[in-house]
Amino acid sequence: MLYNIHPLKLFRALSLSLELSHDGSARHHWRTAMIASRIAEELPIEDSERQLVLHASLLHDIGAAAHWDEEFVGDGAFEGAAQHAEAGYRLLKDSRALGRLALPIRYHHARWDGMGAAEPAGKAIPLAARIIHAANRMETLLAEEKREHVLLQQRPILKTLASEAGKELDPAVVAVLLQIAEKESFWLDLINYQYYDRFFSLRMEGHMHLQLAEILDIAEIFATLIDQASQFTARHSRFVSQVAALLAEKKGFCQMEVTAMRIAGLLHDLGKLSIPAHVLEKEGKLAPEEQTIMRQHTYYTYRILSELDDFPLISQWAAYHHETLDGEGYPFRVPGEQLRLGSRIVAVADVFVALTEPRPYRPKLLTRHQVEEIMQERAAKNKLDDGLVKLLFQHYREACAGMHKWENGDAENEGKNGAMPS
Ligand SMILES: [Fe+2]
Ligand SMILES: [Fe+2]
Ligand SMILES: [Fe+2]
Repeated sequence: MLYNIHPLKLFRALSLSLELSHDGSARHHWRTAMIASRIAEELPIEDSERQLVLHASLLHDIGAAAHWDEEFVGDGAFEGAAQHAEAGYRLLKDSRALGRLALPIRYHHARWDGMGAAEPAGKAIPLAARIIHAANRMETLLAEEKREHVLLQQRPILKTLASEAGKELDPAVVAVLLQIAEKESFWLDLINYQYYDRFFSLRMEGHMHLQLAEILDIAEIFATLIDQASQFTARHSRFVSQVAALLAEKKGFCQMEVTAMRIAGLLHDLGKLSIPAHVLEKEGKLAPEEQTIMRQHTYYTYRILSELDDFPLISQWAAYHHETLDGEGYPFRVPGEQLRLGSRIVAVADVFVALTEPRPYRPKLLTRHQVEEIMQERAAKNKLDDGLVKLLFQHYREACAGMHKWENGDAENEGKNGAMPS
């Protein structure tokens, strides 16, 4: 199995998770990236700068993920621009793989004329940020007016952009944009889903692929996003990743496969970014309707990760964690004999971590014995892999490493909380 991915392919896939809502993904990032990239291609800049524009625009609203419904869809223009740009910067700034995107993302709403908050102005704003700002503005105007034919929107949108040049937007960037947006094809491309693939694959030639360690680094950032979406699951994805990697190791996976399993664990709940906050944050058991909505999360995990066709197993490992050996799981109802070992591992790790972590409706942590009993029961009903459940409890201490810190944020309480090594 190959374990390196073109960065553009990875960012393009993960960007879909940033704007998930009830109805799927809005493609705001893809379209912003297409506009930004076309501007960058007209400017006399280095190829590396063009790549930076493309990559940063695909992730530019990373600081608003999980709040897409509230902030973006609500009333069109959203508030809190500075906050989400700053949140994106903080998420990325220390990342080895994505640190270079941090500044362009931090300033993608900075005003050219300096009338905004205490931000840089004019040419002190990184060029990539100025380009993304203009592209984002155009995409937002297009999205707001989407009931009208795209070619009828061309003139009014260009007029608005021209009026913002020298105020919000860099006039030189707007001038380039106005010029390339004269072509009808530019607009028709933007709304043509069938064309998107071609646009991105044309730009995938010849660049370095990401190595497994960099993909892991990026997966950790997305795990932070996923876990931040609910206060009750502060480190859920990290622990599922830890437990799944342990099981993979014990089952004899090679080192690269174990790292791939770590990534699958970190991203298994990626689709939870599509679940509305009132469901994720509910302080009690979910009502039946809410449980039904919750079922879409693994569907989106699968659809997003299956975009990574050079990393074929990761989508199944990550997204089949609610499929069961009796074939009655969701969302694909995969027959048990088709459930790969990797998928069964993530399923066991997910149930284990969910039972071990504190939940609002479960005031006391479950004891090791209670967790084991529940999991054995599920294995007996052909819901979980029996052998893996046994293997997990043979290595219980190792599997729990670090988890007892959840409750009080320190190591002092080791042994006092229920689910600690006994
Ligand atoms: Fe933004
Ligand atoms: Fe945006
Ligand atoms: Fe999970």
